Amino acid sequence: MTQPANNSPLDFFWFIPTHGDGTYLGSERQQRPPEFAYFREVAQAVDRLGFPGVLLPTGQACEDSWITAAGLAAHTERLKFLVALRPGVTSPVFAARQTAALDRLSNGRLLLNVVVGGNPTELAGDGVFLPHDERYAQAAEFLKIWRQLVSGETVNFDGKHYRVENGRLDLLPAQERPPLYFGGSSDAGQDLAAEQVDMYLTWGEPVAQVAEKIERARKKAALNGRKLRFGIRLHFIVRETEDEAWAAADRLISKITDEQIEIAQARFLKEMDSVGQRRMAELHGGRRDKLVVSPNLWAGVGLVRGGAGTSLVGSPENIAARIREYQAIGIDTIIGSGYPHLEEAYRVAELLFPQLGLGTKRSAPREVIANEFSVGFHGAKRLQASS
Ligand SMILES: Cc1cc2nc3c(=O)[nH]c(=O)nc-3n(C[C@H](O)[C@H](O)[C@H](O)COP(=O)(O)O)c2cc1C
Repeated sequence: MTQPANNSPLDFFWFIPTHGDGTYLGSERQQRPPEFAYFREVAQAVDRLGFPGVLLPTGQACEDSWITAAGLAAHTERLKFLVALRPGVTSPVFAARQTAALDRLSNGRLLLNVVVGGNPTELAGDGVFLPHDERYAQAAEFLKIWRQLVSGETVNFDGKHYRVENGRLDLLPAQERPPLYFGGSSDAGQDLAAEQVDMYLTWGEPVAQVAEKIERARKKAALNGRKLRFGIRLHFIVRETEDEAWAAADRLISKITDEQIEIAQARFLKEMDSVGQRRMAELHGGRRDKLVVSPNLWAGVGLVRGGAGTSLVGSPENIAARIREYQAIGIDTIIGSGYPHLEEAYRVAELLFPQLGLGTKRSAPREVIANEFSVGFHGAKRLQASS
């Protein structure tokens, strides 16, 4: 990036918790079930707060990302929807037709996250039985077909995994081609990124590890004459002070038992063949006393949650400084989240966005004249005047 890091453009996305939400990890207390009405609350809040987009995850425990995004598009104005393209699980032609429909319905607000999958047990339940690298070979064919179709071409394809004769879309997407996002840390994953995707995503590893990873991806892309953009997926626990933030982090995992951690870590190691997941798990090794893995970067969520397992924890000033470090190595997109997602979206927007020059520029209220019913601005003006 040529601009100074703190002025570099930054897209700060949020997350729709389509598998449910809650105040504590590992506890039934204060949980929120996955309900469309709640997703709508989160989507409308983040749309108004100035987040440009949301990620909708995919998996056995998630509400379907396409159908949920279609529903949410009708209740939001600017928000973009990052939904999952699933090679192997859906057909590339069917996915291309869905792409056109959802992009048209949302007036060009569709982004695609290519999810090849890292859990062979879950994939078997979806009817996918290919080993890790072969899944990526299938994904490469899938994306070639999908890309040609959404670009308006007629497709004749005879590959190892797919065969299509005279495939075409009569109705094209609103965008020229909805952008492809993708996260996979293996060599095969990086090869796919280098050849076909626009935005390479990583879960939140320490800056040095992310730098090394994206440098490898950048070099592979250059060999194909291509340039990638880079994004990072992180949870956030932002509070007015460092102490408050770390207390909130401790509270979030305060109800997790050692047995839950053991079961979750064993499952991630036994069931999953994802390199990205292994890199996440290695950050803390399942130990509660090894959770601060670099300044302000905390691995507590990963004790029991697969996938994104790290959070930036701290004051707005310190978290903004950490974000600038990621920007300095080439990250231009953040996909954030936090428990619960509605409240934490407000905290990020109200505490962190001003540090980063982000968010909706709402018109400032005119000076409020205190009267018998109101001291104006929750009393702030009167307090200032008298102090
Ligand atoms: C930002 C990001 C989001 C992801 N979202 C999902 C998801 O919603 N569902 C899923 O099953 N895997 C998801 N993944 C996992 C990857 O799609 C990939 O299948 C997995 O990491 C295995 O790839 P690897 O061995 O190349 O790391 C995500 C990964 C990243 C980095």
